[in-house]
Order: sequence, then C-alpha cells, then structure tokens
Amino acid sequence: MANLVIVGTQWGDEGKGKIVDILSRDADVVVRYQGGSNAGHTVINQHGTFVFHLLPSGILYRGKTCVIGNGVVVDPASLIEEMDGLQAKGVKIGRNFVVSERAHVILPYHKAIEKASEQSKGSRKIGTTGRGIGPSYADKMARIGIRMGDLLNPQLFRRKLEENVAEMNTFLERLYQMEGFQVEKIFQQYRGYADRLKDHVADTTVLLNNAIERGECVLFEGAQGTHLDVDCGTYPYVTSSSAAAGGACTGTGVGPTKIDGVMGIAKVYTTRGGGGPFPTELLDNVGGGLQERGKEFGATTGRPRRCGWFDGVVVRYATRVNGLTSLAVTKLDVLDGFKEIKLCTGYRYNGTLYKDMSADLQVLTDCEPVYETFRGWATPTTGLTSYAKLPPQAKRYLARIEEVAACPIDIISTGSKREETIVLNNPMAPKRRRPMAKSRRKR
Ligand code: GDP
Ligand code: IMO
Ligand code: MG
Repeated sequence: MANLVIVGTQWGDEGKGKIVDILSRDADVVVRYQGGSNAGHTVINQHGTFVFHLLPSGILYRGKTCVIGNGVVVDPASLIEEMDGLQAKGVKIGRNFVVSERAHVILPYHKAIEKASEQSKGSRKIGTTGRGIGPSYADKMARIGIRMGDLLNPQLFRRKLEENVAEMNTFLERLYQMEGFQVEKIFQQYRGYADRLKDHVADTTVLLNNAIERGECVLFEGAQGTHLDVDCGTYPYVTSSSAAAGGACTGTGVGPTKIDGVMGIAKVYTTRGGGGPFPTELLDNVGGGLQERGKEFGATTGRPRRCGWFDGVVVRYATRVNGLTSLAVTKLDVLDGFKEIKLCTGYRYNGTLYKDMSADLQVLTDCEPVYETFRGWATPTTGLTSYAKLPPQAKRYLARIEEVAACPIDIISTGSKREETIVLNNPMAPKRRRPMAKSRRKR
C-alpha cells in the first residue's frame, strides 16, 4: 500500500481531479492539504460532471474517508453549497467527511480586502480567483486567523471576530475608502455554518496518522500547481499556500517519512489562469487552437486560460522541488491533428541559455524559449487505453517529455472521462515501482 501525494507540475488545472478520481479507487483516505475554493477539480464519470472546490475528489467513491486538512482555508458557505450540490446528485456525505479543527476560515472581509488590493494594483494585479484566499492565509501567518475549531466556541469566536473586524475595518475604510463590516451579522451567519458543519470537525492529524498506522492508504490531493506555490512558484504571481509536495506534510500533520511517492500531473502543453510570466505562451491561433480543443476555461472562474507549448523547464523544476517519483500526463488527445508540436527545453535571455527555472521574473518574461519540434500524428489518440495503440509520433513525444522532465510517466490521459486513460504503472499498488526505461522495454 502506498501513501501518495498528487501535485500539479505547472500553473494548475493539469487534470489533478481526473487522476485523483482514478487513484482514489485504491485509496482508503483522500485528503486535501492546501488551498481553498480557488481550486476547481473536474471529475467526469457515468453519473455526470463534478467540479470540486473544497471537497476531496475521492468523495464520489463509497466507503472512502475524505478529509480537509489543516493547511486548507475553508469558506464554510462554499463548502456547504458544495455538500448540498453533491447530496442533491445522490452522493452520500456522512461521517466519512472530516474537516480539520485547525483549518483556517475565510471570512467576508478577506474577499473584500482581496478585491480592493487587486483593484489598486491595476495592470500588476495577480489575477486572483476572488475567493479570499490570500488575505485568509495572511491572517493565519499574522497569528490572528480564525480556525474551524474556533467557530464551534461562541465566546472565543466572538472575541477573535471583534478584534479582527476592528482591524480590518480600519484597513478597508482608511486605505481603500470602503465600508466596513458588522461583527454581529458575520457572527450570526458563521454560527449557522458552525451548526451545520460541527459533526464533521475533528483533529484530522489523529485520524490520518491512525489510518496510516493501520496500513491504510492515503492519497494527498494537491490543489493549484508547483509554479503557483508561494515559495517555489513565480512569486508574486502565485497563490498564498504551499501547493508543492512539501505542503502535503505541513498541511495534514503527516510526517515526510510516511509518504511513499509523489506523482506530478502535467498537461502535454501548458496553461495559466491568472497573470504573471509564461515563457511558452502562444498569443497566435496555435494558442487559440489549444484553448478551443482543450476547452481551456477556468473550472472556478470561467475565465479563458492562457495556452502555450509544453515547457520542459517548468516540469523539470517540478520534478526537482517536489521529488517526483512519476508523472501522469494529461490531454494527449488535445494534440491530435496538430501538424507539428513544440517542446521547450530551455530559455535564451541576454545571450545566456537557461536550463533551469529562473527566480527572476524579467528573465521569464523576456526570454526566448528554445524549442524542439516534433511531427504531429494523424491517427487520433482520443480515448485510447493501451500504450501499444498510440501512434509512434505520440510515443516519441512522450518519451522526450520523460527525458526533459527527468521523470518517468506512469499514466497517460487521453480524454476527460475516467476510462480514457492508459495506466502503465499504478503508483498506489503495493509493489515498488520500476524505472520507466526498464518497464517500457518489457512492454
Ligand atoms: P485540475 O484543477 O488540475 O483538477 O484540472 P481542471 O479540472 O481544472 O481542468 C482540467 C480539464 O481538463 C477538465 O475539464 C477535465 O475534465 C479535462 N481533462 C482532464 N484530462 C483530460 C484529457 O486527458 N483529455 C481531455 N480532453 N480533457 C481532459
Ligand atoms: P486548481 O486546483 C489554476 C491562480 C489564480 C491566480 C493565482 C492566485 O484548479 O488547479 P488565488 O485566488 O489563489 O489567490 O489566485 O493563482 N489559481 C489557479 N490557477 N488552477 C487553480 O486551481 C488555481 N487556483 C488559483 O488564477 O493567478
Ligand atoms: Mg482546476
């Protein structure tokens, strides 16, 4: 049995939801470790299309324990809406769903501050999802945050809320000339949420570590992606949490020695939701083609996603900082019919060749990507479930992705549905994985 972290290798929306859904079958527990309702994870199965913002994508399976870890910031209204929506579709959410008492809460003033801050930045805005994520994590780090457990204690909640609203109102009124918030209104609203959620709130560090102790299998579902991680990403054009694999430990209270593997999810091209540098972005009709064929519109915001070729520098960096043990590559079918396909292996800037991701946004903004060009394939890959049936050009392209990303591919996704998948190696299986080169030779 394996305890596996799933992490986005690019700027989010790599198809984590689909892969988590597939791997959840072999998991006992699925846990979200960071982010909040800025995430939009799509799962398509025989019952329809589901987009998860806070609930772990494993919730569709009966008998799995689903956990929101301490590293997540919870918007209770959004969570309740998601639970109600799923229950209306016949998904049972009972005692199998548990939220950490240590998870921080998003309050209405967080969204207001985010909106005002974004507006004040003008063209340098981050392009956030508007869910109050950044200000909620800022309160957590400033040690004034309100946690799920605090919501259950009316005296404590009121005291913290009074202090915070006083501070936030000063901020909103003086800095942004905006109207402040009323304590009583928020208090009553959130006490209602607490009543609804109280049976789901617990110490999830005990739950998770006990499960591991019993030999159960835990899947850690990352949101966003490595390059949106607050430490490792294209700062400041990032989200405010630890989206990279390290966040799986801090965001759940499970130690690194308990983790068996880290699977990185990578689209076979690149997309980006908000603002910030994007070296391989295509502003021409090739980018438009990727956007149209890949249906690249935000699952949370509905915004069109920026599109470009696969960036090997971006994914190799993800291999390094996450310690990836394997990759799942998604959306191969979207490249069907392209005459030629490009893959970036480095950046040229001011006469220097960069093989590694730069922390300097100027380099990432003004560099010239160095491309290798591949012939496309005429036979469609859509829906294929066997590696042997892939066109040779697609196999060559994928083999090069493995080399450039310095990581073996375990899963190839050829469509949005559960079954449209080629599983070369199941990382949740009890056996230890073999290096890709050897396993491919055997195939
Ligand atoms: P996540 O945030 O990483 O879970 O990804 P999103 O759900 O935001 O975006 C991925 C989109 O691609 C969703 O609409 C998925 O249904 C879809 N998708 C996932 N894998 C594939 C694939 O292999 N092919 C195609 N065509 N669509 C896919
Ligand atoms: P999933 O889990 C893609 C981006 C926003 C913005 C930046 C900061 O579906 O992959 P935030 O609201 O988090 O403060 O916004 O991060 N962003 C995402 N982009 N997928 C996501 O989640 C994202 N969550 C946040 O577009 O650029
Ligand atoms: Mg998404």
